Amino acid sequence: MSLYAATYDRWKNDRTGFWAEAAGNVDWVKGWDKVYDRVDGLDRWFVGAECNTCWNAIDRHVKAGNGSRTAIIHDSAMTGVKASYTYDQVLDEVARLGACLQDMGVAKGDRVILYMPMIPQALFGMLACARIGAVHSVVFGGFAPHELSTRINDAKPKVILTASCGIEPGRIIAYKPLVDDAIAQSEHKPDKVILFQRPEVDADLGPDDADWAALVDNQKRRAECVTVKATDPLYILYTSGTTGQPKGVVRDNGGHMVALRWSMENIYDIKPGEVFWSASDVGWVVGHSYICYAPLFMGATTLVFEGKPVGTPDAGTFWRVISEYKVAALFTAPTAFRAIKKEDPDGRFIGQHDLSHFRTLFLAGERADPDTVKWAENHLKVPVIDHWWQTETGWAIAANPVGLGKLPVKYGSPTVAMPGYEIHVLDEGGHEVAPGQLGAICIKLPLPPSCLPTLWNADDRFRKSYLTHFPGYYETADAGYIDADGYLYIMARTDDIINVAGHRLSTGGMEEVLASHPSVAECAVLGIADELKGQLPLGLVVLKAGVTKTPAEVEKECVKLVREQIGAVAALKTVITIKRLPKTRSGKILRATMRKIADKEDFKPPATIDDPAILTEVAEAMRAHGIGV
Ligand code: COA
Ligand code: AMP
Repeated sequence: MSLYAATYDRWKNDRTGFWAEAAGNVDWVKGWDKVYDRVDGLDRWFVGAECNTCWNAIDRHVKAGNGSRTAIIHDSAMTGVKASYTYDQVLDEVARLGACLQDMGVAKGDRVILYMPMIPQALFGMLACARIGAVHSVVFGGFAPHELSTRINDAKPKVILTASCGIEPGRIIAYKPLVDDAIAQSEHKPDKVILFQRPEVDADLGPDDADWAALVDNQKRRAECVTVKATDPLYILYTSGTTGQPKGVVRDNGGHMVALRWSMENIYDIKPGEVFWSASDVGWVVGHSYICYAPLFMGATTLVFEGKPVGTPDAGTFWRVISEYKVAALFTAPTAFRAIKKEDPDGRFIGQHDLSHFRTLFLAGERADPDTVKWAENHLKVPVIDHWWQTETGWAIAANPVGLGKLPVKYGSPTVAMPGYEIHVLDEGGHEVAPGQLGAICIKLPLPPSCLPTLWNADDRFRKSYLTHFPGYYETADAGYIDADGYLYIMARTDDIINVAGHRLSTGGMEEVLASHPSVAECAVLGIADELKGQLPLGLVVLKAGVTKTPAEVEKECVKLVREQIGAVAALKTVITIKRLPKTRSGKILRATMRKIADKEDFKPPATIDDPAILTEVAEAMRAHGIGV
């Protein structure tokens, strides 16, 4: 029996004892009354326990005498800046910033929004909130003011932490005008904005704005760690749902620490003092768990990288960073490797760097296609590990746990269920399907530590979104199958979420924006296959009668509108005007059929189709744009 199988069995035989033992790696102010309990109808872990997440990320290592160890390395391929911070230094920065937030009236349970580029201050901000018991909500810098304002209205932050700019290839994005615009659009008004001035842009500060560096420099006090309940929220992370209103995934303090600490050792096989690099962004869950928290819980060194896998300046950047900082493991999305493979198919850049410390490549965020995995294996000569998870869980549901002894890789599979997750594949009636058969992937309740107990201020939406369709299970909204060896395969989403370059986006949200264009009568947004980004959104619009603008004008305006309303990250570049949308007789838009046309897949129009001729019109319109040919 493999160590993995023995560990999984150990969990199955004692589901609370397993996590109680794992919790031994966390410092608690007060122990729990119950490892697991249902409280107010919600599943809760470490009920009655008290703790502080920042203590476990920073202070405990300083107290143990490891304050001079490097906690954070910053490498910006955009600006050339390189810096590193010891645990001692991070503690000082975070405790001062925490005191500044307290001076502004931020107390336990208050929310703070962060809208930050990939600089260490983003981590200082998150940790400062954790230190004083405030709840942070990081909003990805590629989202437009409207999206930021939606989150401001929902989270109602007292303070917003930001920087003067983000830097993308070829353009500098001044953040202050975006934050001001978002606040102007919001009903809720934060008391203060704290802004970190970067040398590239000097932002004008208003009366309610404070200069981050000056504030922290002048702060004499150091905030102590504020004790919170294990079940108190650590953060809210908004993620795409089926509508334009994002879901506020809630992460608690205690369960999050226990699960992430366990994952660092058993999945990622990282030891204290080693360098772990997650090439993602703090705005995504990967950034929360594996740029900020988990490496620090482990006493490892985390790397904050600002740049892209290609073009900053070339396809060798990742290898330069791995060799320069002796990175032990890299975690990124497969799309980053597809981008590198396209630029450097023979891996010539790889040979130019010393990768002798590099042990493992972890991929997640979207399906890891076998070609990309094999290319990485061949050129890097290290295990390439696909693993599957969601914003909702905060850590892997299925993985190949390297720390427990790597299992054989099966291409196209993120391997097996992690302890804590009992995965079932169900048919529409909620019955388990046979091995190898496709169905809805569900997790038997309760979910393990770190998984969302609920959505922010939306318990009903939480139950409706995840728990209602298959009673007794959490519905992941991914479809797939489990083979006879227990390996899981993730094949598609069952809702209208699409995955663009590892970014989770809602086609429903994009449709709401297109529908708001005054010339658009009806619309649909599909996720169509893309060699580099996995999927790309494609907009289809039907114009209102009597519209005087040309279709090309409306299409251009629609693209601009989505960029303005959702942000560049939506990556909607193509909108096509069609005469009519294909529908069933009951009026349901045939999105799946249109996607198959775009992706050149075989399809059979559903028997309930209202007018099959419309499909021919749609195919012709797509072909005119070079799609589906
Ligand atoms: N702030 C502002 N704009 C941003 C941004 C940010 N933080 N991040 C991305 N954008 C913009 C980009 O500039 C781009 O704008 P454009 O349409 O004007 O070119 C758009 O949003 C799309 O960005 P991105 O998805 O990053 O595409 P790209 O073409 O710039 O790069 C890859 C493609 C594959 C190199 C890139 O997606 C990548 O490195 N992915 C790695 C995986 C990853 O980070 N996954 C996250 C989850 S693990
Ligand atoms: P996010 O919440 O942004 O992390 O996106 C979660 C979704 O991304 C999942 O529900 C899947 O659809 C997809 N996903 C994440 N990791 C994988 C993976 N390893 N294989 C296939 N799909 C994945």
